[in-house]
Amino acid sequence: MASPLFERMVRAIEAGAFPRSRRFAWKFLYNGLGRLWRDSDWRFMNYGWLPPEGEAPLNLAPEDEAERPFIGLYDHVARGLPLEGARVLEIGSGRGGGARYVARYFKPDTVIGVDFSGPATARARALNADTPNLRFAVGDAERLDFPDASFDVVLNVESSHCYGDMDRFVAEAARVLKPGGWFGWADMRSKGAVTQTDKSLARPEFVLERQRDISADVVRALDAANDRKQNRIAKLRLMRRFMAEFAGTKGSLLYRGLKSGDVTYMSRRYRKL
Ligand SMILES: C[S@@+](CC[C@H](N)C(=O)[O-])C[C@H]1O[C@@H](n2cnc3c(N)ncnc32)[C@H](O)[C@@H]1O
Repeated sequence: MASPLFERMVRAIEAGAFPRSRRFAWKFLYNGLGRLWRDSDWRFMNYGWLPPEGEAPLNLAPEDEAERPFIGLYDHVARGLPLEGARVLEIGSGRGGGARYVARYFKPDTVIGVDFSGPATARARALNADTPNLRFAVGDAERLDFPDASFDVVLNVESSHCYGDMDRFVAEAARVLKPGGWFGWADMRSKGAVTQTDKSLARPEFVLERQRDISADVVRALDAANDRKQNRIAKLRLMRRFMAEFAGTKGSLLYRGLKSGDVTYMSRRYRKL
């Protein structure tokens, strides 16, 4: 059964009931998760991406196998970008698994992950301390603490739905990118918000290089990760229904939305002029 608290929260956000305070609601949630969710084998907080059956699976080290669906979303966003030797910024890095994947598999010079949740950032540091070309900092997507033109690649995965001002975030991402740099972005939006989101992303200095609806790939990942999530949620003492919604388990609002087309999982790639 759905969590009424979660449904009310999502519907209020969708209706634009409190756009300015949306970021504070999400920060409260991610700070709580950062403090309480101590599992050392969960480095991701995204809904994932898996290719259709028959397509070659991603080649992963055995220790990364359990997180294949979530790594898949990062691989989808990052593969094909000029990452070798690059300075990479991830905005909204959460528990750090995506930044770690990029740092370990794509030979960049440096990956910096920023997240506005202090506890999530502390968790990312602790979970990924074994990766030398990777560091994490507390930082706000809407006010980045980096000079102009300081990165070759900026990544943003399933984070921007939390922001108070999407236009401001995109302007910041464009500002910190070098000319010729790349911006890889993926996130979900309700059907009615897709056009406005594309308008926010379409900065004058950005050229759209790739545009995908990856909803079906995300549903595949939700299916694949469902048992692992349900087993973890069953161990909670409180908020099981809320967490089942938040995690996108089968039957959740998000799961149903992606299947029905009410929610679109968007993926975009831009090059800065
Ligand atoms: C759904 S999690 C995704 C985390 C990570 N990208 C992943 O895929 O595992 C969203 C993350 O965005 C972060 N976030 C939300 N608003 C932010 C903001 N204004 N600036 C930086 N990070 C933010 C949250 O703290 C959270 O860690």
